[in-house]
Amino acid sequence: MSKTHRLAVLPGDFIGPEVTGAALEVLHHAAGKHGVEFETVELPFGGSALDSHGTPLPAETLEGVDECDAVLLGAAGGPVGDHRWNRQPREKRVESGILGLRRHLGVFANLRPVTVFPGLEHLSPLKKDVAAGTDMLIIRELTGGIYFGKPSEATGERGVSTMVYDRSEVERIAKVAFETARGRKGRVLSVDKANVLDVSQFWRDVVVATHADGFSDVELEHLYVDNAAMQVVRDPKAFDVIVTGNLFGDILSDLAAVIPGSLGLLPSASLGGSKGLYEPVHGSAPDIAGQDAANPVAAMLSAAMLLRHSWDSPEAADELEEAVRVALSENPTRDLGGTSGTRAFTDLVLAKIGTDRAVA
Ligand code: NAD
Ligand code: IPM
Ligand code: MN
Repeated sequence: MSKTHRLAVLPGDFIGPEVTGAALEVLHHAAGKHGVEFETVELPFGGSALDSHGTPLPAETLEGVDECDAVLLGAAGGPVGDHRWNRQPREKRVESGILGLRRHLGVFANLRPVTVFPGLEHLSPLKKDVAAGTDMLIIRELTGGIYFGKPSEATGERGVSTMVYDRSEVERIAKVAFETARGRKGRVLSVDKANVLDVSQFWRDVVVATHADGFSDVELEHLYVDNAAMQVVRDPKAFDVIVTGNLFGDILSDLAAVIPGSLGLLPSASLGGSKGLYEPVHGSAPDIAGQDAANPVAAMLSAAMLLRHSWDSPEAADELEEAVRVALSENPTRDLGGTSGTRAFTDLVLAKIGTDRAVA
């Protein structure tokens, strides 16, 4: 008898619940078609949890997550600017809840694929022949670096954050990159700022040493982050696996979203702990919430990564990804210049998977 998986669902705020709901619908259909069974547990998280429980990451959410075998997260956070959620002390900020969840799960390896699917080159603002064939994977270190380094404070007179990496942290993310590269084109680009930052020189030294110690079949190159940002947009198909630290990976992945055409397209999988965390690269987009305008593709493709990485169901993942690709080719969402709202686009994907809501 096949096992029934247990999925923790943390919808979060603003468009978070909209895209998570859409992703769950298509996940149910794709999984069901391939005999993958799961039940879901919805848990409070983000600004809405701050309002209801006094903290963005309640203890009951951590307990609930511990009882599941994978986590699907929407997006959390309030509008950029003055908002009650942004006036909290740092430990109660919604973003601290996101960081706390990643640390709790120990998911140090954040995989952010950036793909221009065949036939969807026209959705890119770049020239078609520049965007065509883009298939890169940004591997972002997720539980260390300047996001977590001490000291960290903002007083009346001084603000300080500290970028720090231990050898073991760099070694383990470098290994993930080299091992992943073996299943792709056998190439890794490490991105740092070693010309200026000691922590980046250390990063580079450890990446080089890890490479020499068992991965010399993989080709290793290095770029400084400022140049990498330019090259990624100038010639995206020259890139394959990119490994970088927490802050640089955050910035490069939003930048790279321009290549396929929208931030609403980029999924992620955070791995390396006892279970995977799956979430779109984008945030809660308060500016478009409640208007049926959110692109659910990033959340749907995150669900496909879940099928692949946590539930060992590559056929269901392939089916879901192909349905999204075909739906995008027929009528993309508004952020991509199409006319599909979130609901209509979800229905289109469901139809491509071969069923519809009427029979669900
Ligand atoms: P954002 O990613 O929410 O939005 C940036 C821009 O992209 C906006 O114009 C938005 O409308 C658009 N956009 C984002 N997702 C989209 C989608 N699925 N479909 C169509 N358009 C989309 O970034 P922001 O405005 O800087 O941040 C808003 C809030 O989200 C902040 O509180 C931030 O801290 C939080 N955030 C959360 C996560 C997360 O939960 N993992 C990630 C990033 C930002
Ligand atoms: C992301 C987000 C988060 C990050 C924030 C909201 C904590 O921007 O997932 O990319 O910086 O990691
Ligand atoms: Mn980000």
